[in-house]
Amino acid sequence: MKRRTFIKDSAMLVAAAGAGNVLKGAERSFDKLGMTDPSVPEPVERTDNVEGKLITSAPMLQNYSENSIGVAFAVGALANGYVLISENPDMSGARKIKCGGYRLTELSDKVSQIRVTGLKPATKYYYKIGADRIHYGGGYDMKILGNEEDPRIYNFTTAGKEAKGHFCVINDTHVRWDAIDKTIAKVNSLAPSCVIWNGDASNTQETIESQVEIFLDPKISAKDYASFTPYLFSPGNHDSRGMANRHLERVWMFRQPEERNSRDWDLGRNFAVRMGDVALIGLDTAEDKMDTNPIFAGLFNSDAYRRAQVAWLQDALKRKDIAKAPFLVAFCHIPLFDSRPTSNPGDVAPDDKDPKYTHDFAIWQRTCSQLWTPLLEKAHCQLIITAHEHTYRRDDPTPGRSWTQLVGGGPRLEEAHFPTVIEGKVENGKLNITVHNVLTGQVQDSITFSPRKR
Ligand SMILES: [Fe+2]
Ligand SMILES: [Fe+2]
Repeated sequence: MKRRTFIKDSAMLVAAAGAGNVLKGAERSFDKLGMTDPSVPEPVERTDNVEGKLITSAPMLQNYSENSIGVAFAVGALANGYVLISENPDMSGARKIKCGGYRLTELSDKVSQIRVTGLKPATKYYYKIGADRIHYGGGYDMKILGNEEDPRIYNFTTAGKEAKGHFCVINDTHVRWDAIDKTIAKVNSLAPSCVIWNGDASNTQETIESQVEIFLDPKISAKDYASFTPYLFSPGNHDSRGMANRHLERVWMFRQPEERNSRDWDLGRNFAVRMGDVALIGLDTAEDKMDTNPIFAGLFNSDAYRRAQVAWLQDALKRKDIAKAPFLVAFCHIPLFDSRPTSNPGDVAPDDKDPKYTHDFAIWQRTCSQLWTPLLEKAHCQLIITAHEHTYRRDDPTPGRSWTQLVGGGPRLEEAHFPTVIEGKVENGKLNITVHNVLTGQVQDSITFSPRKR
């Protein structure tokens, strides 16, 4: 540590003790050291927002797992959010967990994110959300202006071997509220244990406010759509487009660092969750254009990201609870297979252009397929659920490919691009997949899987 930095930091520590006298004492000791500037920070000009609601959305349950859950909600002013959580419906014995991680809470005027850890598997928890309204006038001028608690008691059940094996998948919602409203209504009528949002929730998001609207305060009738039903997220190519999406974790949190090993520090969205008889594996296919494509100006690093997920996947598949699950289902946004020779496989250097393909971007992801599917095949993965193409499709196994691929539907209430809810439910020792057509309300497709070889 440089001497100058040390002296400055020491002064701040002394000043943080609070009293002016202490500070004067510090100044005297600095004088003795030949220093006269204890580096007291200037006050910050900031107008407190004391009007209006502090908590401005229902909570969203993010990154469902066996022993932790994320709770995120929108706030309308500078806030220090928290969750009260209990195993009892009357909230007795509740513990309080504040937003943010170690060292500091996550003071924010947009979103409060609370990661609740240390939970029991397959257990029902009751929770409430609250926040302190904070005045921030500088490093030594902070106070609580008030407190707001949402009076509603919400609940959820953690994942785990004893949980109900029942999931729903939605994808490519692309901020089309009319379709999302109907899609979520369908999901809610099915009451799954969790929902996998399989990417392209975004279009191009430049502001955190627009991300808040997509995930926390959507323009749909079920404002509490994710307050009781936990969500998992497999990002799509659009979920990293726009300045705000470069830090989507400000609205959709990562898993806590202690929930993954240091090698996987940056893989905050991958998931391997045991839910009843099903193991759910979430992978991120990243962008649908090459990192070398000039329109990206060298600002994307998908290739390294895809490769980093190989070691993560290897370890996840070895985990005892995952390896022993009768059903193994993987999720990622861009398909890992396409039989059509005109479909761009996403590895056309440098700019994705080749006249033999119909599009100048990946319709499917050959690189991800080559990296990940040998591992999934070896683990006898039965089903990979993908998205991205905006048209529902089913690819049954072939002699060279042991898994079924489903490609979820599109974002529009139109026949060519109808949205789907793909439901998976374990019943009588089988995994029944039902593809619901959100436009017609009819069942579009159904498949039954027997337990995999283990
Ligand atoms: Fe899409
Ligand atoms: Fe996409």
